Amino acid sequence: MKSLVILISGRGSNMLNIARACAEQQWPARVSAVISNEPEAAGLAAARDMGLAIEVVEHRGYATREAFDSALAGRVEAHAPDLVVLAGFMRVLGPGFVDRFAGRLINIHPSLLPSFPGLRTHARALDAGVRVHGATVHFVTPELDAGPIIAQAVVPVRSDDDEASLATRVQASEHVLYPAVVAGIVRDQVSLEGARVRLSPQMRAAFGVSDIVYAD
Ligand code: GRF
Repeated sequence: MKSLVILISGRGSNMLNIARACAEQQWPARVSAVISNEPEAAGLAAARDMGLAIEVVEHRGYATREAFDSALAGRVEAHAPDLVVLAGFMRVLGPGFVDRFAGRLINIHPSLLPSFPGLRTHARALDAGVRVHGATVHFVTPELDAGPIIAQAVVPVRSDDDEASLATRVQASEHVLYPAVVAGIVRDQVSLEGARVRLSPQMRAAFGVSDIVYAD
């Protein structure tokens, strides 16, 4: 049984979708803890209501980023995670944390990386006039929003889209994409070879949704 630790800062809709899929699809995994840096995160209450163990490591309680990262790493490590899932976790993690969990730390970002790293991705995509936007799940490296890409969900941009309508469709795609990727990882269908991600044929065959595009 693999151990998953999910880090959130807000609503936690991705976390909830992963936790539900884990239970309903009987993954060989369990969500050991949901940890938030924000004590008031709505996702924390929702996780608790689902019966998940929740913890808070409040970044404001630490004088430096390194001190916060170190405290968080200790709490995460206590669950011996096979995979640490960043799901709307809004703190940049430094190299100390990232290197400690290298190869078992993933993130979802609301754009087709390497386009639009950082914040306000939907507004920037509209301003740029791109015809396709979407979401990316990637391994985390010390460079922000830049690690090896595991899979992407492509969302066409409509002529009448505004930031809110585009964000809604990207989020809906995230809720399919992220559980599918985590399922693949806990079933050992995803491997990292240097900077490239390899997926098993079973994973690609098992997952036939056309607008989710795997790395290979
Ligand atoms: C998602 O859009 C994700 O791509 C980004 O933060 C948002 C989190 O949403 N990293 P939620 O908290 O999972 O609802």
